[in-house]
Amino acid sequence: MKEIVSSNYSIFFNNDGYLKLLELIYKLKYSNVFVLVDENTEVKCLNILLSKLNQKFSVIKIKSGEENKNLSTCNYVWSFLNNNNADRKSLLINLGGGVITDMGGFIASTYKRGIDFVNIPTTLLSIIDASIGSKTGVNFNQLKNNIGTFTDPKLVIIDKKYLETLDEKNLKSGYAEIFKHSLISGKLFVKLLSDPKIIYNHEIIYNSINVKNNIVLRDREESNLRKSLNFGHTIGHAYESLKMKKKDKLLHGEAIAAGMIIELYLSHIVLNFPKKTVNECNKHLGLFFKKIKTTDLEIDELFRLMEFDKKNYKNEINFVLLNEVGSFKTDVNVSREKITEAIKYYQNN
Ligand SMILES: NC(=O)c1ccc[n+]([C@@H]2O[C@H](COP(=O)([O-])OP(=O)(O)OC[C@H]3O[C@@H](n4cnc5c(N)ncnc54)[C@H](O)[C@@H]3O)[C@@H](O)[C@H]2O)c1
Repeated sequence: MKEIVSSNYSIFFNNDGYLKLLELIYKLKYSNVFVLVDENTEVKCLNILLSKLNQKFSVIKIKSGEENKNLSTCNYVWSFLNNNNADRKSLLINLGGGVITDMGGFIASTYKRGIDFVNIPTTLLSIIDASIGSKTGVNFNQLKNNIGTFTDPKLVIIDKKYLETLDEKNLKSGYAEIFKHSLISGKLFVKLLSDPKIIYNHEIIYNSINVKNNIVLRDREESNLRKSLNFGHTIGHAYESLKMKKKDKLLHGEAIAAGMIIELYLSHIVLNFPKKTVNECNKHLGLFFKKIKTTDLEIDELFRLMEFDKKNYKNEINFVLLNEVGSFKTDVNVSREKITEAIKYYQNN
């Protein structure tokens, strides 16, 4: 399968990826190789990786989950690296979902002013989104990805085999970002809408990675074009933060699915995006995701969280909205009344 070339690294598929990794370890003569896993990827994924690499490495295990994507977990990993003689010629392999690739990338990019890292994503969401594009980071003070860096991995390995053990909820969470990539690019949109039974296959994964990579290649540090990838995320991130510490906590894609429906409706009232397509997307996403229930108090909290959003400038709440499928406008400032109307559409349809 053809590699996808990114800025200073490439995304390789299956055995090509493992061969490239072995080549990298051999060529760059790393002093130590560490693999970062969480308690699930240690059990479900590490053996697959071990069977592909005949290499010695130290395993660093952390607790799974978004609530552990924070500086105290970083402290633990940085200390582990220090206590195990990790020098600047060490390599960190991030084997896991978006929490592992985001946080592992951040840990590597800051440890001793930066050591090399490789991403091996094991969830659908991290395969088509989190592991590529060079954003690393952790949550801080209830704010998503508030602390982080832009740092390239040395390479990314995509292997669908890891998905065989992933539960349906997490597969669906990844589908939300696949759907977003198709909405902003127009690619495969009709196909996805017409066949909701297929969550992923090679064509869908390849297309989705390409959409993201082509955007990042043109605007790595998000001055304009890359903002399109935030479609659904202004409200989606607020939902995710709102529910982060609650019983009905959300997966990233579940929050983004809600955010996309609300922002599609905003696109309709602000930019005349076709209402028929808003309704079709609402119905389609409804096959995968239950509606998120919120009290009036929680809606006030959503606004407070949106005001903190990194995408804002001068305290205005800014959105990426669509004119039509495949065409977007960034930095659209929308009034609180319109946002409230869009949330009502989401809740009542
Ligand atoms: N950097 C970016 O550009 C970017 C883009 C999108 C999302 N993200 C981040 O990604 C994170 C979400 O990623 P995620 O959904 O992968 O979450 P995750 O890393 O928490 O993984 C979800 C769950 O699946 C488990 N798991 C992972 N691989 C498995 C496998 N193969 N089999 C069984 N279980 C497995 C994990 O242990 C975890 O419990 C968020 O923190 C989000 O902010 C980053």
